[in-house]
Amino acid sequence: MTVCAVVGGQLGSEGKGLVVGHIAKDYDHHVRVGAANAGHTLYTERPVVDPDNPANEATVREKHVMQQLPCAAYAHPEATLYVGPGALISKEILLHELSTLCEWRGEQRLGAPIIVVDPRAHIITADHIRREAETDLQDRIGSTSTTAREGIGAAQAARVMREDDCVLAGDDGELERAGLIIADVPMWLDEVRSEHTLLEGTQGTGLSLTTGPFPYCTSRNTTAAGLCADAGVAPTRLDRVILVCRTYPIRVAGNSGPWGEGSVELQWEDIGIDPGQERTTVTKKVRRVASISLPQIAESAALNGATEIALTFTDYLAPGIAAQHGPASKNEVGMRWSKVAAYVSDIEEATGVPVTMLGTGPDTVIELED
Ligand code: GTP
Ligand code: MG
Repeated sequence: MTVCAVVGGQLGSEGKGLVVGHIAKDYDHHVRVGAANAGHTLYTERPVVDPDNPANEATVREKHVMQQLPCAAYAHPEATLYVGPGALISKEILLHELSTLCEWRGEQRLGAPIIVVDPRAHIITADHIRREAETDLQDRIGSTSTTAREGIGAAQAARVMREDDCVLAGDDGELERAGLIIADVPMWLDEVRSEHTLLEGTQGTGLSLTTGPFPYCTSRNTTAAGLCADAGVAPTRLDRVILVCRTYPIRVAGNSGPWGEGSVELQWEDIGIDPGQERTTVTKKVRRVASISLPQIAESAALNGATEIALTFTDYLAPGIAAQHGPASKNEVGMRWSKVAAYVSDIEEATGVPVTMLGTGPDTVIELED
């Protein structure tokens, strides 16, 4: 049995969706926490047949952005999916994801496999959204959310203050009618303890409420410990923690806070990337970018107890690397993409943790062998 946590090692958008998508089939139970301010992107391919000429086989590449459900919804359609008790739920977004998923699977209503949502998760209401919009949060901290108008901070605050009754258990049953099972997620996960489970973290360790640079952080603890707590899985069950780190960390646009120690703020043009490629999903603002901070990654590795690191956006260092298929040895990477190999060895030296995967494009991963 393995319980694996996938967490961000910097300031979000590290490519957790890419990494989870790559390893999804190794895990039969996938848990998502957090809220819709995190969007995990993954791609799938499906064969299409030309009805006029059935011998003509082709594949279509489909993009999925997951704000509430685990990426395994698409990356491992046989898996059981969970939304943990610590999550905050936008019913509108969750129901939309559900209907998109049913459509993709060619079902009217969700059949097996199943999606279990914990009744203790809280719902984000129109009032939370209104209250958050009335604050100066976005101006003050740039906000880590995609719009700062999603009500996530306000819903979390209301939960902490035990102010309003937004617990999912008290809801009108709309989610159950849509085919979701409302049940105790930690107990379900305890029952399947002999099977492999993946906990899908959101945002980045550098945004964590308690250890991040307050107030330039998000409204929850984004480390593996927070992920366990929000999923309802005991921390002693974790035996694999994958820290996902980018070659060039990003922050949302605006007054969004400091970089890790030693990072230098850059312009996208400085690294030869079209800024249009790095816009936030909803507001389409160009993200801030900086050079890598090894002390930040070392701190994140320590805070998360990382057992391995996935280094993403290596194509920003070596555009040709995306064409590599299958695993590669560290030696081979060193010979063909020396800049990437230098990042790998610097990170391993700073953290004492092996880099086991390279993200080489939005939908390509290389497994690194010694
Ligand atoms: P948050 O929880 O929202 O922080 O997101 P995340 O870490 O899951 O990031 P996400 O999956 O949204 O990735 C950010 C963007 O980078 C998406 O558009 C991905 O398709 C893309 N991406 C991920 N990995 C790579 C990579 O190695 N290279 C390139 N070029 N793009 C990547
Ligand atoms: Mg994202």
